[in-house]
Amino acid sequence: MSRISWSRDAVIYQIYVRSFADADGDGIGDLLGVASRLDYVRDLAVDAIWLTPFYPSPMADGGYDVADFRGVDPRFGTLADFDKLVMEAHARGLRVIIDLVPNHTSSAHPWFTAAVAAGPGSPERARFHFRPGRGPDGAQPPNNWQSIFGGPAWTRLPDGEWYLHLFASEQPDLNWDHPEVRAEFADILRFWLDRGVDGIRIDVAHGMVKAPGLPDAGAASVELLAGAETPYFDQDGVHEIYREWRSILDSYTPERIAVAEAWLPNVERAARYVRPGELHQAFNFHFLGTPWSAPAYRDVIDTSLAVMGEVGATTTWVLSNHDVVRHASRLAAGIGGTAGGATAGGGPAATADPALGLRRARAAALLMLALPGSAYLYQGEELGLPEVFDLPDECREDPVFVRSGGAELGRDGCRVPLPWSGSSPPYGFGPAGSTPWLPQPESWAVLSVAAQADDPSSTLNLYRRALRLRRERLGGRGVKPGRVEWHSAPGDAHLDFSHIREDGTGVRCVVNLGTEPVPVPEAPRLLASESLPQAGLLPPDTAAWWPR
Ligand code: NOJ
Repeated sequence: MSRISWSRDAVIYQIYVRSFADADGDGIGDLLGVASRLDYVRDLAVDAIWLTPFYPSPMADGGYDVADFRGVDPRFGTLADFDKLVMEAHARGLRVIIDLVPNHTSSAHPWFTAAVAAGPGSPERARFHFRPGRGPDGAQPPNNWQSIFGGPAWTRLPDGEWYLHLFASEQPDLNWDHPEVRAEFADILRFWLDRGVDGIRIDVAHGMVKAPGLPDAGAASVELLAGAETPYFDQDGVHEIYREWRSILDSYTPERIAVAEAWLPNVERAARYVRPGELHQAFNFHFLGTPWSAPAYRDVIDTSLAVMGEVGATTTWVLSNHDVVRHASRLAAGIGGTAGGATAGGGPAATADPALGLRRARAAALLMLALPGSAYLYQGEELGLPEVFDLPDECREDPVFVRSGGAELGRDGCRVPLPWSGSSPPYGFGPAGSTPWLPQPESWAVLSVAAQADDPSSTLNLYRRALRLRRERLGGRGVKPGRVEWHSAPGDAHLDFSHIREDGTGVRCVVNLGTEPVPVPEAPRLLASESLPQAGLLPPDTAAWWPR
């Protein structure tokens, strides 16, 4: 199909529902809270929202443990609230993407409770991966796979059988070789598409199919989310599922899209998910994982554009999400965003200079938004929010923290509820007097939306200006993707490129990742990430845009 997708140059704003806005005052964000803030999102000039899971869930993994794939958890609202949210978003020109979680269910899902009750050898157990253990009495797990969240990927039931869970023990992995599993998810997909959603984000999109016989993994495979080769990630069989889903998506009008959450060893493997007939996009975690270095960024930008271009797909860009240390903290630490540096929540990022981190985060945003392709923003990055490292242990809920006995801080620090207004918590996140599910730092009063709204130098206004300029100068759905022309050399400590559209217009972006000022055009700028002390020179850790 030669049609150019609306997603090709879309900016998609990730809403982590339980931390966005709390309409009913129970301390947990909800769908009506999201609906109440849609004008704010529209005014950012983004094209779509992605809602993280709001399904009925025991919340063992923040809702990625789904007990009913067709419902709404009462903490988040009702199906009627969901329908209202979709309608209100569409009325504002915002598309809606939801999170589909096909790799596992919750242990509270009726299929799993039935499997536990039915016992070994039952057809109910065939929908999951149940196995006898190894060793005398079967007391050893069936293989050596480790959970992404730490500890063995197997849990033993009182009847002696073990079941597989690549994540928390409350998240049993589904057996995608079972026809009922496939049929059920095709039906779930249609259920939400029929309700008018514009797309899906596929959780653990590289994980559903396991190598036949569930063989032991090699030593490298225990790396957390690093994408090393394993018998449980990136198996060829997943692509067959995506071809089926693509035909379902394509049977709807207007267009529906899918984006893969897949942590893979390189961009080449990621491109396999977006081949013709498969998914529209895959998150660019290689961009997210790039440390603050011009040659490193140049490499990932060139590789992403070339490799995704070869399969005719859109390149995506992302700096933060609900699983990694917020980039305003991470980029100052000289670390990349994958593996321990991203997910552990502590390490070098915890001690890095916050002012430097914010400067770099603002510059990185201008870099990302100047590139051809689609960009994903994570709620709160437009406020320059830092990671919260010093949450009290008793407030932390991430299974990464719990399963590591506190050795890893986990991901709660990037999930602290948003500050909207006011001088003390809950900062307008919920009604006055309500207590957000994670405590918000005292220092966030100056970072609230209200505190930044009228300050021309705020991070919020930098994002607003950049997003509007991007829409005016780099948007253009329905035309061919723009191209990048470099003015800097691959080894330079700065990046200097023009994003040129088919009609010859575009934006020139310079980002200084070095330690010395770099010469830049004296011509009038479109915007800069900081006020520039001297015309013609761009200071370190700063970015600016010019007409191409
Ligand atoms: C990826 C999600 O983004 C993360 O939050 C979750 O813990 C895992 N998948 C497991 O569902």
